[in-house]
Amino acid sequence: MTNFEELSDWLRGWAGVDASRRDIADTVLALADVGREISALVAAGPLAGDQSGIVGENSDGDLQKLLDLASHRDVLAALANAPVAHVGSEEAPEPVTLNSGAPLAVAVDPLDGSSNIGVNLPMGTIFSILPALAAGAEASFRQTGRNQLAAGFLVYGPMTELALTVGSGTHVFVLDRRDETFRLVNGAASIPHATDEFSINASNYRHWNEALRAYIDDCLAGDEGVRTKNFNMRWYGSLVAEASRILTRGGVFLYPADQRHGYGDGRLRLVYEANPIAFLVEQAGGAASCGSGAILDQVPDDLHQRVPLIFGAWEEVERIERYLNDPHSMGDHAPLFGRRGLFRA
Ligand code: AHG
Ligand code: MN
Ligand code: MN
Repeated sequence: MTNFEELSDWLRGWAGVDASRRDIADTVLALADVGREISALVAAGPLAGDQSGIVGENSDGDLQKLLDLASHRDVLAALANAPVAHVGSEEAPEPVTLNSGAPLAVAVDPLDGSSNIGVNLPMGTIFSILPALAAGAEASFRQTGRNQLAAGFLVYGPMTELALTVGSGTHVFVLDRRDETFRLVNGAASIPHATDEFSINASNYRHWNEALRAYIDDCLAGDEGVRTKNFNMRWYGSLVAEASRILTRGGVFLYPADQRHGYGDGRLRLVYEANPIAFLVEQAGGAASCGSGAILDQVPDDLHQRVPLIFGAWEEVERIERYLNDPHSMGDHAPLFGRRGLFRA
């Protein structure tokens, strides 16, 4: 058929006879199976009934749509048959215990990019696999991202794609519609250290702090300003779609804190969005920061807590951290040196 290795073979090769790795492999396969199902639902659109109907509000205050809940239910059903003790889901206020005593805990965003439901734009599922702690579900989801055993996301786009890390690089698989198997297309995703493409919701410009505005201003000034090169911008309204593009061709993504009510820590959630993305990005040679430190070092105090998220090309992430934390390096807006000129590299 083809020489692209199947996901199940790749996982079997990685796990070998190691029981802990086989537990992780079984859990990843369960999530890939759910991804296949959700992908089919998404692809059917209105033919599968109303998916965008509002059915409630989640614990984070986001509107819950029918497809959010259907995805949530599908994920729980699949993980009930995997070695998973607890699931922390965006769509449930508290962690759900499935198999007491099982070795793993899974944090999940069952459907990322819900604002794209019904308008034929990319969505996805994000997952983080952690050791289940004897102290129980709450404690299991308060581990830092450094404790993740595996992480990944599915993108339901033109391709149904699975990005996965088990701690030895980032691997990308694509669903082969001919036999419904995920096949390895990139065994070592690599994010270039520099970029000329940024991803941010520019409609929030007036809500950002001065340093963030200065950074974006300098990008927009292009080769007429301090950056001496032009930039492109992309915003898909779907974290997984942005992350997939950045794993494929590089770039930098920003969802910063802003001054809107409830956005003091941005919009994205640490445990089931930022941490898995950060693991995948660091494994691909990129960086992921909350603006003042690595995402993976942040200690969660709540399953649904938000965190500012900046990830991608490590040179760009470092520069953004400098703008945010060191006024002397803020483009040509530095108060001490006025317009850019002799004092700036
Ligand atoms: P979710 O649909 O799970 O709530 O995630 C949506 C997130 C993320 O996918 C995307 O980058 C961001 O929200 C878009 O936010 P804005 O609508 O504020 O641009
Ligand atoms: Mn999301
Ligand atoms: Mn979601």
